[in-house]
Amino acid sequence: GFSWKLADHPKLPKGKTVAVVVLDGWGEAKPDQYNCIHIAETPVMDSLKKGATEKWRLVRAHGTAVGLPTEDDMGNSEVGHNALGAGRIFAQGAKLVDLALASGKIFDGEGFNYVKECFALGTLHLIGLLSDGGVHSRLDQLQLLLKGASERGAKRIRLHVLTDGRDVLDGSSVGFVETIEKDLAELRSKGIDAQIASGGGRMYVTMDRYENDWNVIKRGWDAQVLGEAPHKFKSAVEAVKTLRAAGANDQYLPPFVIVDDSGKAVGPIVDGDGVVTFNFRADRMVMIAKSLEYADFDKFDRVRVPKIRYAGLLQYDGELKLPTHYLVSPPEIDRTSGEYLVHNGVRTFACSETVKFGHVTFFWNGNRSGYFNPEMEEYVEIPSDVGITFNVQPKMKAVEIAEKARDAILSRKFDQVRVNLPNSDMVGHTGDIEATIVACKAADEAVKIILDAIEQVGGIYVVTADHGNAEDMVKRNKSGQPLLDKSGNIQILTSHTLEPVPIAIGGPGLGPGVRFRSDVPNGGLANVAATVMNLHGFEAPSDYEPTLIEVVDN
Ligand code: 3PG
Ligand code: CO
Repeated sequence: GFSWKLADHPKLPKGKTVAVVVLDGWGEAKPDQYNCIHIAETPVMDSLKKGATEKWRLVRAHGTAVGLPTEDDMGNSEVGHNALGAGRIFAQGAKLVDLALASGKIFDGEGFNYVKECFALGTLHLIGLLSDGGVHSRLDQLQLLLKGASERGAKRIRLHVLTDGRDVLDGSSVGFVETIEKDLAELRSKGIDAQIASGGGRMYVTMDRYENDWNVIKRGWDAQVLGEAPHKFKSAVEAVKTLRAAGANDQYLPPFVIVDDSGKAVGPIVDGDGVVTFNFRADRMVMIAKSLEYADFDKFDRVRVPKIRYAGLLQYDGELKLPTHYLVSPPEIDRTSGEYLVHNGVRTFACSETVKFGHVTFFWNGNRSGYFNPEMEEYVEIPSDVGITFNVQPKMKAVEIAEKARDAILSRKFDQVRVNLPNSDMVGHTGDIEATIVACKAADEAVKIILDAIEQVGGIYVVTADHGNAEDMVKRNKSGQPLLDKSGNIQILTSHTLEPVPIAIGGPGLGPGVRFRSDVPNGGLANVAATVMNLHGFEAPSDYEPTLIEVVDN
């Protein structure tokens, strides 16, 4: 039968303190002026790379290596941390939704049938990120949902769009809105009353995560449910163009509602309506899902709570079973390394600041919130600064995170001390190159604090990343040259990349014969879990992706 017991590693000892450091958004790319990691002073990461080739290598962090549909899909933190923690490659949300749409099964399932009950008398509302970034959602999936719902009887449809500019170029929101407006016009020509009802920028409206700032959800609630927003427009194209011209970027567009000729909002959510949140990625949907689903709710005053039939595109939290109804079953990420290690006596400490806290806990543990065993684990969240864009605070809480890790290491109460350092990702997403350089330096300094502590306790470190971001800040053509816009300016790349990420191992506790194998050249993030299990003195389960290390006799 199944057992949680891991076999002893034949050569590697137990009881070493292992620090696992994830630099968020830290990829490896050719060094030029748009590579902030190259420009920044990063002596610690540089020395890991220079030290010994058998202790530093690159691993794949995008596309099929992390369960995404194609090799054109950039990496992201959800799939990256899932792979790091689970040690296997699971077909991820994006892919599962593609398959369910292609087969049509999405429209036969419990979730769709539940929402469909509203088609006779109510309105179908679709809320989500309007983007082809493929990180949280995809435009083509939304288009197929619209088509499928209208063919199956939805007669009144309202779209609540969140503009991106973070996984795609800033300014691309206008084109996405124009595209979807065409689809809606086509539906109208078939007699279906379909239109955009509200909108707002993803970072300011609805898509907060890890309960960083409930005001973000409230702004969305007011516009989407109550039909109230500071800005009112006759069309969404006009809304996006006007608000951008007034200085807002796509990520931070203020909330707006679309009104009819009498000034009335065209699509508040009311009793009897159906709602689908069409993002597949979990982290930035959990809070809105709670506000739409929970009867007991005190995070903000919802004012009016309509009786709706709500489904997520996926279920976003497997532990909370949230939301209850969903169109596509999420990947079943079971038997993660965290769960195994806890069952095998490995005491674990995990820490990041709020905006990335769930990455090293929730995503790491297979989209599961909470502890496996609170007696064996401690998760510490450092509150993030709220209400700012991180280019004004590029150091973020890197030092605080590193000091918590240092204290956890020196306390000798933990076998694994795991952190996420957010700087290169969160600041990279702002597109501010100067600030991103400061961010990379800050992350490097934080790594030093952790490695020094590992040195003191005779431990082992594993330093890696979840995907690229700060190593390339410009949109390029196929031959790698920066692309210029109409006025001759470079186009800033706020998104992640397709680049591989480094992994380095070392520390006084690492046996002299431990080195990277040369026979896993295509290794990816999913190979890291077995590697870390080995460093804790265990063999990985046989269905895990192979370890990256071997032990040679000196
Ligand atoms: C975000 O949610 O901030 C971005 O879309 C993706 O960034 P992450 O995958 O690094 O969290
Ligand atoms: Co990111």
